[in-house]
Amino acid sequence: MYEKITLHDKTFVPYISNEVLEKAIDKVAEKINADYSRSSKTPVFLCVLNGAMMFAGDILKRCNFTAELMSIKMTSYVGTESTGKIKVPMGLTGSVEGKDVIVIEDIVDTGNTIVALRDILLEKGASAVKICTMLTKPEVYKQSLPLDYVGMEIENRFIVGYGLDYDELGRNLKDIYILEK
Ligand code: IMP
Ligand code: MG
Repeated sequence: MYEKITLHDKTFVPYISNEVLEKAIDKVAEKINADYSRSSKTPVFLCVLNGAMMFAGDILKRCNFTAELMSIKMTSYVGTESTGKIKVPMGLTGSVEGKDVIVIEDIVDTGNTIVALRDILLEKGASAVKICTMLTKPEVYKQSLPLDYVGMEIENRFIVGYGLDYDELGRNLKDIYILEK
C-alpha cells in the first residue's frame, strides 16, 4: 500500500487508490458515452484547471464519440479552506456559443465554482450545460444545480492527489490522500 506524505506543513494519509478511482471513472464514462454517442451535435468537454486535468484526460481516453476540448481556470481555495470567492485567472479557451458543454471538475464542494461557471457558460450562449465531477462532498453541497455524472461521494475532509492540491502541491499523485486528523 502507498504511504503517508508531507506537503508544505501537513501530513496526508492514503484514502482512495488509483485502482478504485479508475473503476469509478469507467462507470462515469459509460454513462457519458450512452448519453452522447448518438448525439447529432459535437459536444465540448470543458476542463476546469488545474485540478480536473487528470480526470479530464481519463474521461477523454474513454470517450467513444467526437468531442471538442476547452479549458478555463477557476480558483476558490487557499490552503485547506474555500474562500467562497471565485476567481477566473484564465477565461474560456474557445467559443461555447450554441454548443452542448460537459463541464469536467475534480471535486464539487460547496458548489460555488460550478454555479458561477454555469452562469458564465449560459451567458456565453452554451445550448446545454452538464456537470461531470470525479468527487463530491454531499454534506456541504448547497446548490440546486444537479450533478449529472459523479465518480464518488466522499466525507467533508480535505484531500489531495489525482489533480487536487494543497497550495499547489500534490497534484501529481495518482492516488488520493486525506489530511491526517
Ligand atoms: P467549491 O466551489 O466549494 O465547490 O469548490 C470547488 C473547488 O475547490 C474544486 O474545484 C477544487 O479545486 C477545490 N477543492 C474543494 N475541495 C477540495 C479538497 O478537499 N482538496 C483540494 N481542493 C479542493
Ligand atoms: Mg478545481
